Amino acid sequence: MLNLFSRKTKIQDSNGYKYRLALDIGTEYMKAVIVEYNASESNIVGYGRVQQRYSDMMGGAIANIQGVLQTARKAVELAQQETPHEPIDAIVGIAGEFVKGVMTTLDEERKEPTERISIKELEILIEKAQQLAYRQGREELIRSTGVSNLEIELVNTALVEVKIDGYKVSNPYQFQGKNISLSLFNTYAPLVNVGPLATVVEGLGYQLVGTIAEPYAVANSILTDEACEFGAIVVDIGGGTMDVALIRNGGIEGTMMVGIGGRSFTRKIARELNITLRDAEELKLRYSHNQLPPDMTKEIRDMIIPDLHLLFDGLEMALTELARGNALPPRIYFCGGGSALKGLIDGVKEKRIHERLPFFKKPDIYMLKAEELDRINDPDNLVSGEENVTPRALALQAAFLTTQNLLDQRLA
Ligand SMILES: Nc1ncnc2c1ncn2[C@@H]1O[C@H](COP(=O)(O)OP(=O)(O)OP(=O)(O)O)[C@@H](O)[C@H]1O
Ligand SMILES: [Mg+2]
Repeated sequence: MLNLFSRKTKIQDSNGYKYRLALDIGTEYMKAVIVEYNASESNIVGYGRVQQRYSDMMGGAIANIQGVLQTARKAVELAQQETPHEPIDAIVGIAGEFVKGVMTTLDEERKEPTERISIKELEILIEKAQQLAYRQGREELIRSTGVSNLEIELVNTALVEVKIDGYKVSNPYQFQGKNISLSLFNTYAPLVNVGPLATVVEGLGYQLVGTIAEPYAVANSILTDEACEFGAIVVDIGGGTMDVALIRNGGIEGTMMVGIGGRSFTRKIARELNITLRDAEELKLRYSHNQLPPDMTKEIRDMIIPDLHLLFDGLEMALTELARGNALPPRIYFCGGGSALKGLIDGVKEKRIHERLPFFKKPDIYMLKAEELDRINDPDNLVSGEENVTPRALALQAAFLTTQNLLDQRLA
């Protein structure tokens, strides 16, 4: 049991390392990762995964805070068994479907064009741009949800572009000029979705230092800065839902949620064979791992094909909606345990969706594994496979968040 009163005795900063917890509150599984990091490297040192109680999560959101908190305690306990170092602060992931990305550009005329731009001046400008972005983000979310007194929270912020007198610069520090324009990409979520995440993290006894949109964490962990600007589509198929996110211009441009995930297939098998969900889950995994005799394999395949087609259609509809007639990026990354279902990725490829959607060229369709996110080390191989892409991406963000002050990020 995590002792909430032992804060002062917690071991921090040993060998120059700091420790932090990354929490992925999934519909099917709660995952906790402990990372250690310093200025030059970051390592995964603890991992725990615990199945959620069935009704604690609904459609990717927390439905019972106390229930989820209990499960989170167990996951943290497991992670903590692997390391004596106890983090003080934590970051938590928020599912893509709850967030909204807003690009805002602030144009300012400088009073003293010959003065060199200072860090102080930039900080003031960024703050102004963020206030503008907050107002615009709130207006957009109010429009899309129809709730007029909606409270929102800032989830992520990225400085996308700086121009001085029309010229794009990568670092405006010490430049001279009259007109400066800053483009920020901010991500917001309604308070009703962000609040419970913070309550769980604080209930565990950690200080929450960041809420990170999951598809953004994944994209940011696999793509170079350049590719991130060019864009990607991240599809996370978890237990409950399929989240489709369009990443463009260095941020999440839009997200769509389709209510089909790993559980849908388990439920179907349980119903058809009249067996428990637990047995159906095991059968499904054995099917996926080619561990069933041929006749059973065929039986399961025939059983799940209609739902697989629903999923493919859902994906195509989500992408049509997200594209809004504009070109889609040529890379689709799949992650999440549900995407490991045998036949799913091949099925997506066979659908040839690019023939009906605005792709410039046939997109690369790729299934991610957590171990490919190698900007963070995992010496004991704790966090691998399809179902751990998001927790590992969050762990990576947790390790980099400190140095990732908005200015450091772009102006270093
Ligand atoms: N090899 C596999 N084949 C088929 N399904 C799998 C495989 N591995 C994991 N799954 C399924 O993946 C699902 C869990 O995935 P994951 O841990 O990504 O979900 P989650 O993060 O808890 O849910 P969500 O992201 O929807 O909130 C379960 O339904 C599980 O049956
Ligand atoms: Mg998930």
